[in-house]
Amino acid sequence: MIRTVRTVAELRAHLAGWRDQGHRIALVPTMGNLHAGHHSLIELAKQNADKVVASVFVNPTQFGPSEDFSRYPRTPEADAEGLAQAGCDLLFLPSVETMYPLGAEAAVRIRVPGVADVLEGAHRPGHFDGVATVVARLFNMVHPDVAIFGRKDYQQLQVIRHMTKDLAFAFAIDIVPGPTVREPDGLAMSSRNQYLSPDERRVAVEIIRNLRTLRDQTALGLPPAGLEQEAVERLTAAGFDVDYVAIRRADLSIPDGGSEPGLLGLVAARLGRTRLIDNLDFDGVDAR
Ligand code: PAF
Repeated sequence: MIRTVRTVAELRAHLAGWRDQGHRIALVPTMGNLHAGHHSLIELAKQNADKVVASVFVNPTQFGPSEDFSRYPRTPEADAEGLAQAGCDLLFLPSVETMYPLGAEAAVRIRVPGVADVLEGAHRPGHFDGVATVVARLFNMVHPDVAIFGRKDYQQLQVIRHMTKDLAFAFAIDIVPGPTVREPDGLAMSSRNQYLSPDERRVAVEIIRNLRTLRDQTALGLPPAGLEQEAVERLTAAGFDVDYVAIRRADLSIPDGGSEPGLLGLVAARLGRTRLIDNLDFDGVDAR
């Protein structure tokens, strides 16, 4: 059984004990429905700290009005068990009232300009405001020495880095990215994969296949814009409704053309009602 706290007072009391003992504390923020990808983040947290706290909170402010907030899978018992097995020390399981005492609608929002406006931000307006808002609150509640975020949500990682750098928190936080964990066929693990029908699941692998094709074509020096368009056409022909296929620099700026080091490919596409995202570092550097 993992020790579970639900209020900020309980959380802080627990963390104060660890701090008194000189422990370095890692935070792994999650929305629950944990899978092997999340468990690998706990593992990484353990390598970077003495004590690990995971939060499980399905954050209403990062879902758009037509998105899947109410049907987002909630599996608190299995999550607690998985976290205990993964070696997590503490589970923070706050309510909406704990995270947003004035209510989610009245919550002070954090907006990260630039990096949050493109790609996911352009297709999910307000999404990254909600992410930055909840992560800043979690940082203020936990004061972690290190916080772990999966590289699968690459743009989220960049948004959080930007926010952390700019907000001058009173405590130093190392943001450590966790590598994307994939199914044997290459599909990136995601809580949303379970929405896929068996037919959609078979087709879903086309996302990583196309990212690998983009990587190989980019290495030949072919212009990114044409490659992106061809990948959109291939994914559409396979049955996807594509939001974007993008070849970008690590800071998500658009490369001038041709091959250059440090590029990555990013895809967001819908299969039926399920929206999937993935990305691939073309240099194979999974930790940037
Ligand atoms: O990546 C997620 O699961 C969420 O966006 C996060 C970082 C836990 C914030 O709600």
